[in-house]
Amino acid sequence: MGEVWGLMLWSLVAGTMMSGTGTRGQVEDELKGQLRVGFYRQSCPAAESIVSSVVRDAVLSNSNMAAILLRLHFHDCFIEGCDGSILVENGPVSEKHAFGHQGVGGFEVIEQAKAQLEAACPGTVSCADIVALAARDAVALANGPTYEVPTGRRDGRMSNMSLASDMPDVVDSIEQLKSKFSRRGLSERDLVLLSAAHTIGTTACFFMTERLYNFIPGGGSDPSINPGFLPELKARCPQNGDVNVRIPIDEGSERVFDKQILQNIRRGFAVLQSDAKLNDDPVTQSVMDSYLGFFGPVFGLSFEADFVEAIVKMGQIDVKTDSGGEIRRVCSSFN
Ligand code: HEM
Ligand SMILES: *[C@@H]1O[C@H](CO)[C@@H](O)[C@H](O)[C@H]1NC(C)=O
Repeated sequence: MGEVWGLMLWSLVAGTMMSGTGTRGQVEDELKGQLRVGFYRQSCPAAESIVSSVVRDAVLSNSNMAAILLRLHFHDCFIEGCDGSILVENGPVSEKHAFGHQGVGGFEVIEQAKAQLEAACPGTVSCADIVALAARDAVALANGPTYEVPTGRRDGRMSNMSLASDMPDVVDSIEQLKSKFSRRGLSERDLVLLSAAHTIGTTACFFMTERLYNFIPGGGSDPSINPGFLPELKARCPQNGDVNVRIPIDEGSERVFDKQILQNIRRGFAVLQSDAKLNDDPVTQSVMDSYLGFFGPVFGLSFEADFVEAIVKMGQIDVKTDSGGEIRRVCSSFN
């Protein structure tokens, strides 16, 4: 007993040293370029509270909105960096109409926050920052970890659906998923942690068809689906049924932000094929196990803390901080 407590104490101390705001914190600040926590503290002190209150109201009236806003941040960051490019409506070529962004939403919530921000501090807060802050608030509203978001992103001036062809796809192999993440500076651990965002939210049956009825190779269903789960999945998304029907991604725990999704994936209860693929690689497998094993927590690995680190990192992909961007007046169109 004494040994276990000693170990826990040791890992607490070690954890504090490792994640403290000492030298490592300073190095990280430099790597973040000009992004910094509290960027709007002088120029628009109410910025973050305005976003929070709009997000809270939106989630209160649609409980799946937290998931929708979290997904929006991912889709924004992966194409042209976190620059709000996905929000722009510039005709049929708009990036937002790309196949890889199918089903992405939450635009109206971002636009509503933007309208309030323009009234409070015109021309100050970027749409890209609103997306990042909204995702943070969404995670907190789903009982996930709370964290600070470095801000100061500027909005991009490009929107073209051809740029979005490199979005991770639900039918990608683990190799493709790893390389799409690595091209954006994200590790295999980040891939696992960020996929765990699927702890909240739903998928349309549209994305289940290949996995349930036309799996490649071999046809039929994906053999990696736990046989105890397959009948349920098939019942919820019947062959030739309505592809717009939505089912929870984190079976049994879809409302709460927690690491249950990793357990589900390991047991063959992944709903999305891309989540199931995390079992196809020894590295991503062991990353999942590192959060699930008895010793995981003792040795200082916290799913919540590591998720925060990963999503903050995702939020820095190719950000525009100077003349490479603008502060849009309306998120759906360039100035
Ligand atoms: C690893 C590559 C990923 C793939 C292939 C993928 C794919 C998908 C698909 C197919 C859906 C269902 C969409 C729908 O039917 O509307 C979905 C939903 C979702 N994704 Fe991902 N995703 C990935 C990574 C991520 C990341 C990194 C995040 C956030 C950090 C994320 C957050 C979400 C959320 C929260 C939902 C639920 C949305 C809702 O309920 O409307 N995903 N994802
Ligand atoms: C979008 O990209 C395609 C392919 O690169 C290009 O042919 C087209 O002109 C672009 N459209 C706009 C409006 O930029």
